Amino acid sequence: MDADKIDDIAEIETTAEIDSTQDPFEQIIGQDQAITLVKSAVTQRRHVLLCGVPGIGKSMLAKAAASLLTRPKQEIRLHNNPDNPERPIISVHIIDEPQEDVEEPDIIDTKYARPEELPFEVGVHMGYRCPRCGSYSLPEHNLCMECGATKRCDWVGDNSYHGLFRTLEVIEEPALGSYSCYEERDGSTYEVLYQRTHRDTIQITRQIARSQAFPNSERVEVSQRVLISRDSTRFIRVSGASPVELLGDVKHDPYGGAENLGKEAYLRVIPGAIHEAHEGILYVDEIASLGAYQKHLLTAMQDKKYTITGHNPQSSGASVRVDNVPCDFILFASCNIEDLAKLIPPLRSRIRGYGYEIMLNSYIEKTKDTIADLYRFVAQTIREDGRIPHFTKDAVKKVIDHAEEIASSLDGQRNALTLRLRELGGLVRIAGDLAVQDESDLTMPMHVNRAKSICKGIELRSFGRAESIEKIHRDYGSYFF
Ligand SMILES: Nc1ncnc2c1ncn2[C@@H]1O[C@H](COP(=O)(O)OP(=O)(O)OP(=O)(O)O)[C@@H](O)[C@H]1O
Ligand SMILES: [Mg+2]
Repeated sequence: MDADKIDDIAEIETTAEIDSTQDPFEQIIGQDQAITLVKSAVTQRRHVLLCGVPGIGKSMLAKAAASLLTRPKQEIRLHNNPDNPERPIISVHIIDEPQEDVEEPDIIDTKYARPEELPFEVGVHMGYRCPRCGSYSLPEHNLCMECGATKRCDWVGDNSYHGLFRTLEVIEEPALGSYSCYEERDGSTYEVLYQRTHRDTIQITRQIARSQAFPNSERVEVSQRVLISRDSTRFIRVSGASPVELLGDVKHDPYGGAENLGKEAYLRVIPGAIHEAHEGILYVDEIASLGAYQKHLLTAMQDKKYTITGHNPQSSGASVRVDNVPCDFILFASCNIEDLAKLIPPLRSRIRGYGYEIMLNSYIEKTKDTIADLYRFVAQTIREDGRIPHFTKDAVKKVIDHAEEIASSLDGQRNALTLRLRELGGLVRIAGDLAVQDESDLTMPMHVNRAKSICKGIELRSFGRAESIEKIHRDYGSYFF
């Protein structure tokens, strides 16, 4: 039976007959108005504040919103700045969709040679020649057979501590090597690729250099790196008040980035969540817990770019700064109604002015349609869990009765169903577990009854019935029932 067309619940025997939907928005129950606003917020690139009690689908809505994002167009690269290495430079590259008919570069010729015949420098790079005395030996020998020098040190490029590790990596895998270089001939640039195809044979392929074959494609220089890849997820979730996580950082280097000794500054820059969410969604759970960092978030939202610098003043990262790092994101923030007062007014005003504040329902009127929605929710929870048996119709009725009790006790509503569905999902899972224990193929009403007494909150069980639910709710800030 289609999830959307449960016209007559009486027709259903078990929840196995209810199909599940893959659409993340259709999985969200009872929040139709919020769904409409969220959909339009993503298309119009507006900010959203989701407000409501715990477990009613705030995070679900934000994740569903991410499914509407289109593929990012920009790749953010970071370049070494040779004139001032502590001020690496940002560049933004708009990347078009890949062209399907891109051809491989034309191969001009292919020939084979013995390793001894290779040009001296190529021989050194491929491990056949000793860089000190020039004598020939196989790349498997790390030391020169004639003079005892370490053959690989020089050709990995530097003597730094990073160079050492790269040296070790290469030595571990010396069996097949390759080396490529560029050759200028008759006014054209060719790429020459040397590949060790056999122990004593080198295949040499000469082809039109990539930059000439594809004039529009750039060869990536060594001194740049991709900071935010176009393929990275642009739905970024943050919680808590870590400035490093939110705003980025520059790692410490014990050598302070000294040339040939430390790690260059542009390689130590870590983007923050605001940068990783560029062209996407930044979901800040419990936004009030950001505290003082809310104003940095506000600046990022206003300027759509934000400087990355090291946060620890004792660290060598503190002297590095990257300006103008793009961070044009849609903010999705969530908070409980009691925490609204902790949001700084300009941030709230920004969200109101450029987006939506959405209050999510904590209950919904009990009608034929909303009962059908809860049937769908039970079926969905069972499928998602994957370890519990389906519910009989009577067992679902018990769950629905319970949803009505919660709406009455926590929201003071008659003839309503709760939308605190995380809690209700807990009941479904425990009832299912009890059915598994009983080796029952289906979850029965008695399992739901037993589950209800198990999932009563600790406070309620230890205080007994004497304490009123409202008092417990008030004192413990919980919504146990
Ligand atoms: N409206 C809903 N429709 C369907 N399932 C829901 C809904 N609300 C909650 N759930 C269930 O509860 C789980 C938790 O929901 P979610 O994380 O979205 O709640 P939340 O509002 O973000 O809570 P919190 O305030 O604690 O972060 C979901 O994975 C889902 O199984
Ligand atoms: Mg949440």
